Amino acid sequence: MQNTVQVKPDIIWVGGNDRRVNRFENLFPLTHGMSYNAYVILDEKTVLTDTVDRSISVLFMENVKAALAGRQLDYLVIHHMEPDHCANIEAIVQAYPDIQLIGNRNTYKFLTQFYPAFAFNHFITVKEGEELTIGKRTLRFYMTPNVHWPEVMMSYEVSEGLLFSADAFGSFATIDGNLFSDEIYFPEGIIDEARRYYVNIVGKFGSHVLKALKKFSDLNITTILPLHGPIYRTPEHIGQILAAYQNWASYDFDKKSALILYASMYGNTENAVDILASQLAKKGVREIKVYDISDTDPSYLIAEMWQYSHLVFAAPNYNGDLFYKMDALIREALRLNLKNKKVSFISNATWGGLALKTMQGYFEDDKRFAQVGTPVEIPSAVCEGTVDALAALADELSASLTAD
Ligand code: FEO
Repeated sequence: MQNTVQVKPDIIWVGGNDRRVNRFENLFPLTHGMSYNAYVILDEKTVLTDTVDRSISVLFMENVKAALAGRQLDYLVIHHMEPDHCANIEAIVQAYPDIQLIGNRNTYKFLTQFYPAFAFNHFITVKEGEELTIGKRTLRFYMTPNVHWPEVMMSYEVSEGLLFSADAFGSFATIDGNLFSDEIYFPEGIIDEARRYYVNIVGKFGSHVLKALKKFSDLNITTILPLHGPIYRTPEHIGQILAAYQNWASYDFDKKSALILYASMYGNTENAVDILASQLAKKGVREIKVYDISDTDPSYLIAEMWQYSHLVFAAPNYNGDLFYKMDALIREALRLNLKNKKVSFISNATWGGLALKTMQGYFEDDKRFAQVGTPVEIPSAVCEGTVDALAALADELSASLTAD
């Protein structure tokens, strides 16, 4: 049975939720499912903006039909050709054979790659700033490559200032009846999952996100309609989510404190980081957070890294080199373009190895990072000498946190 929500008198949400999916992109764990948004606009012409993931195809097709209430569909605007949004294009074209598809050159390229056996006869290619008038409403198209894929574009509805923002401003988690951010606790109810979504999905492309934000800086935006998560329609929430994106895309930190990320095989490295955390707390450092990286998915850890000014990496040697989960975590964070951080290191070796050298190697000779303190090397277990070394590191970290 259809389940649609009225966004405006003539704009209808035709998306849905998948609560069975455990991982987004088969990669990022989901604890509360995923939403896929799509919208029908009813004007002199009818428009569908994007489709949804194939997991909710049946509901989606019912929703579109219900929203159209017997009318034909004139246009499908394709903002993003990733399958979580494009999986139903073929079904839509089959159901509404006279429909015209709207996208850019890359959209068409990806369309033919994802649907190699299907003939799309009615494709309109649009460029930056081109407009489509559908009656009283007009959509203006903005090219926003790499937010998140190269073909991504957004639409701005000029009469009311509605921004159809593709993946931007999206979030993990489902929409539980309350489609608008002002119907949920905001930002508490969503911001952690919005940040984790941003960092892991779009985080690498900060400069592209900043370019997109600049394009929109002169526009009067009254509503943001993303492809995932809540719709923003209050000036306060729009301001907050835009400011968060500006911060995240600039690789700025929210928390001037220490995030301690450790791997520990038998608890000795964990013992050292707990001692360091206690010493930092005694020196007045607040909001310290300690994570066992073996136990937490990297998507959460990297989203946390984005927030903190100072990162402490602590890991043992394994097979003569860095414990592989720490190695993978650092590499993935750097691949996502993590930068502008102060970094410190703790390693543990019973008989030598390259853990410390490898960790340091990822950050040295890189102006985007600065090392704080002398690295602490634990000889199997924490001893008096280790405690002194941890105290010295705590001194240097606290001085750096105070000075910066
Ligand atoms: Fe929601 Fe980049 O897809």
